[in-house]
Amino acid sequence: MADWYTTFANSGVGTTITKQLGLPRPVELRRYEPGQPLLPGPVVVGSAGQGRLRDTVTAVLRDAGVTVQSPVTADGGTDGEKLGAVVLDATGLTGPADLAGAHDFLAPALERLRSSGRVLVLADPPAAAGSPARAAARQAVDGLVRSIAKELRGGSTANAVFVPEGAEESLAAPLRFFLSGRSAYVDGQLLTLSAADVPANPDEEKPLAGKVAVVTGAARGIGAAIAEVLSRDGAHVVAVDVPAAGEQLARVANAIGGTAVALDITAEDAGPRLVQQLVARHGGVDVVVHNAGITRDKLLVNMDAARWNSVMAVNLQAQLDITQALLDAEGALKPGARIVCVSSQSGIAGNRGQTNYAASKAGVIGMVRAWAPEFAERDATINAVAPGFIVTEMTAKMPFGTREIGSRINSLQQGGLPVDVAETIAWLSQPASAGVNGQTVRVCGQSLLGA
Ligand SMILES: NC(=O)c1ccc[n+]([C@@H]2O[C@H](COP(=O)([O-])OP(=O)(O)OC[C@H]3O[C@@H](n4cnc5c(N)ncnc54)[C@H](O)[C@@H]3O)[C@@H](O)[C@H]2O)c1
Repeated sequence: MADWYTTFANSGVGTTITKQLGLPRPVELRRYEPGQPLLPGPVVVGSAGQGRLRDTVTAVLRDAGVTVQSPVTADGGTDGEKLGAVVLDATGLTGPADLAGAHDFLAPALERLRSSGRVLVLADPPAAAGSPARAAARQAVDGLVRSIAKELRGGSTANAVFVPEGAEESLAAPLRFFLSGRSAYVDGQLLTLSAADVPANPDEEKPLAGKVAVVTGAARGIGAAIAEVLSRDGAHVVAVDVPAAGEQLARVANAIGGTAVALDITAEDAGPRLVQQLVARHGGVDVVVHNAGITRDKLLVNMDAARWNSVMAVNLQAQLDITQALLDAEGALKPGARIVCVSSQSGIAGNRGQTNYAASKAGVIGMVRAWAPEFAERDATINAVAPGFIVTEMTAKMPFGTREIGSRINSLQQGGLPVDVAETIAWLSQPASAGVNGQTVRVCGQSLLGA
């Protein structure tokens, strides 16, 4: 589903007009569909610095059925086939001079990137680099990747993954995600992995087979998309929403063979009730997606206590209370549990009229960061996703001008779809994502807001 402008810009007359007027020319993004190959073309893998991850990357890609080319062919050497992705292993940088290798490899390779291509840079984390020169070179990757993401066109994205020494095992699932159509609207992002015992996914087509997943706010919008994608990936979904949304909720749950639970997550006994239901009916839970959220916008000076309190209660306090209830109850969270909390770009950038909402969504980011070590001890993870402008019923009701500007001010020049948020959450929910913990992943097409 593309928005009207994307459809227009890709039509015969639209292409001519947008070119002549220098208007944004968004393309339809490559999105994941079951059975699709990981990439529509070969990958070239190069290195700058020592590049300790090349063999790991090559093995993961070959295992995924991807053709891996060496950099020799990147500058036009052997064949002119367009590249599906370009991966730069920039681990082991010792100082700024090593970055010349990044330029030498990337410049010719990017010329061969096809539309909806992927650029992924792997590097050591800038923190604890040991010397200012090393820290400078590692931090330089940040600016490099964000700028490449802004230079790419045609629906292509660029992201970076920081891989600390000892966390090499954690790389496979993020590598596959960032190269696949699942990450269509994740652009200009930097993810830091941690060391973990990483189980393999039982099946890359059904990575959540046999899992039980709870999704709050599942009756519509992004929550309904999350429920559908988790179910597609093999999970039994327990779909939660307020009693007033019962009919819509039942429709979503029935369509995916899931279970509907009418529950106001701000009710005093919401946590214990949900725990009781999950333990009694499903023997515990593997995946919890805290998606339910509300807005009650007003400038702070005009905001009454009810608006402030209701937004805090749904968006933040309920996530804290339900997660704590799950941690406290013996056997409620199954081994290897995954919690994914929905934050927002507003929680990173702030937004006029949304002090309550932005505070609650920023709180979610702090919450997952603080809880991550405790979850790691249980071989579990807790992460957040921060959507940018996502095309939903809510955004469809915005005034035309606001909506158009909101959806264009990102590197992909279009709004994301609920499925883009859902795919990111489904990836964080996979068993193989054990090495992603305490992170906030923006799903915003590299929005200029809060960048
Ligand atoms: N749409 C966007 O562009 C966007 C951007 C950033 C973040 N988000 C976040 O994504 C999440 C989903 O957003 P959406 O656009 O699909 O919203 P939506 O309003 O369409 O859906 C939210 C759902 O949550 C449910 N809900 C609200 N209060 C509840 C409660 N007390 N108990 C149980 N369920 C409750 C609602 O009934 C509704 O079904 C929210 O957390 C929102 O803040 C959305």
